[in-house]
Amino acid sequence: MNDVYILAIESSCDETSMAIVKNGREVISMCVNTQMKTHALYGGVVPEIASRMHTENITRVLDEVLKNSNLKMDKISAIAVTYAPGLLGSLLVGVECAKVLSLVHNKPLIAVNHLAGHIYANNIDNKMSFPLLALVVSGGHTDLILMKGDYDFQVVGKTLDDAIGECYDKVARVLGVSYPGGPNVEKLALAGAYNYKLPKMMVDDSLNLSFSGLKSAVINLVHNEKQRGNDINKGDLAYCFQYEAIDEIERKVRLALVKYDVKELVVAGGVSANSYLREKMKKVANDYHIKISIPDFKYCTDNAAMIGAAAYPLYLKNEFSDLDLNAKSQLDLY
Ligand code: KG4
Ligand code: ZN
Repeated sequence: MNDVYILAIESSCDETSMAIVKNGREVISMCVNTQMKTHALYGGVVPEIASRMHTENITRVLDEVLKNSNLKMDKISAIAVTYAPGLLGSLLVGVECAKVLSLVHNKPLIAVNHLAGHIYANNIDNKMSFPLLALVVSGGHTDLILMKGDYDFQVVGKTLDDAIGECYDKVARVLGVSYPGGPNVEKLALAGAYNYKLPKMMVDDSLNLSFSGLKSAVINLVHNEKQRGNDINKGDLAYCFQYEAIDEIERKVRLALVKYDVKELVVAGGVSANSYLREKMKKVANDYHIKISIPDFKYCTDNAAMIGAAAYPLYLKNEFSDLDLNAKSQLDLY
């Protein structure tokens, strides 16, 4: 079979990204234009601003990704785009761009679920081994997914309330550190120690998770100390939050690995950039004698290479979309 070059577009939140991915695994070029500095001024992503900025940036990103690849559009086999879930106005910019490229250059269009993208980031420069257990930890999701083959997603556990990334962001806000919260809380925690007692979550044996109790405990602790006129040791509190949150994830991953016989543990989503979580998951996989895959840092947070990787199995199955493809702000993968 001829080599397949997929031009992929990701614009579901505050990154405008395009990539050209060969045969679902090899990233020929990737461009990520982040709006992080702008949204940091507001303490979080402002949807209206995000979509405007995608509109301003997207053609420049296209020029750059093609230039860096040394490929012309005629070499491209298909156009892939994130169509769900995410911020609607942001998704629409990517979807419209993909439809125009598909129409003008007469290329098939592939609609990709953002979460499939995060999981398939583990196929870049690598090959996922089925059956596998995927831990998806992002700003909107915390899921345990059993995969017995390509695009065979069986959710076996999920958060019953907040996503882990969302909690990192809220804890960051209450500790007064800037957006994006996750990496900044992680940095604070490096200088901290176990000096605050926070509640354990979901002390059951199900594979579901819950983070809202932990989040509320951190927020209440900060407010109570402020009311008493006491200072908070931000490093210690960040450390204790991270310790408890990731301890909970670790416990549930271990339970899932007892229940399901898998060859590999894959970690996916923005929070997989967290070094503490990465180390813990490596240890877990080692204890169960299974493979571990965690994407390279640049493929952990939102990027188009993962969309190109996730589009490849759909390309092989001729699962193409029509030009009436629309964006969806919410959509389950499973
Ligand atoms: O996957 P992602 O880029 O976007 C979504 O699809 O949601 O994930 C973003 C989330 C944010 O909540 C961010 O704070 C968190 O990932 N995050 C981290 C780290 N880097 C990003 N959380 C903890 N530690 C990090 N190093
Ligand atoms: Zn994401």
